[in-house]
Amino acid sequence: MKVKIFMPVGTELERAERIRRLGADVDILDVNYDACVIVAKLYAVDHQGLFVQDTALETDSEKELKIPLYIMQGYMSILQEAFEQIPSMRPTHILLQCGVGSFASSLAAFIQNKFRDEVEMPILIGVEPAEADCFFRSAQTGELELVTGEMNSIMAGLCCGVPSTLAYPILRYYVRRVTILIRRKYLDYYNGWTMPWRPKYTGIFAIHC
Ligand SMILES: Cc1ncc(COP(=O)(O)O)c(C=O)c1O
Repeated sequence: MKVKIFMPVGTELERAERIRRLGADVDILDVNYDACVIVAKLYAVDHQGLFVQDTALETDSEKELKIPLYIMQGYMSILQEAFEQIPSMRPTHILLQCGVGSFASSLAAFIQNKFRDEVEMPILIGVEPAEADCFFRSAQTGELELVTGEMNSIMAGLCCGVPSTLAYPILRYYVRRVTILIRRKYLDYYNGWTMPWRPKYTGIFAIHC
């Protein structure tokens, strides 16, 4: 099988090289992650390929939604295996890193199901880079918010500005807090923002980095 991967501007060359060594053809584009998703989709259509990525969009057909859904189901195996290895594990807080949100939402759904009959549900906290804070912004406005342009953060795989429409409702329902990993120089800008999501629990919880 031939695999073509599109990676966003700012991708470390070594990261791309590692993927090439696995046999894929890799292009680093001069655009952000979300634009790469669109380029990849068009490329797949042109080359009769299978388009594999985990952002579900509002415009996706039922068939197109299947791939993000399969990826989300696959992510759940992380916690399945973790609980098989440590069955007594009872985390009080779980930090879930968000790019487009598929990873975080699948793990959030797994946790809700796993602990549904228990008195204490672990507190789920979404985490994302301040430069790509689409879930943080969505938590503030209560609407699905996009971030566009350059997302210049070292948290490469999390620099996504378009939330997955499959992930967003799950995160909105289950995640109590969205935390942004914020650089000290931007802290003043964010301080004082409040969030309508579950107001009893939410708050701004910034980590300097
Ligand atoms: C370990 C890990 N966490 C989080 C993410 C971000 O996932 P998503 O874009 O589904 O939010 C990725 C993406 O590849 C990942 O590999």
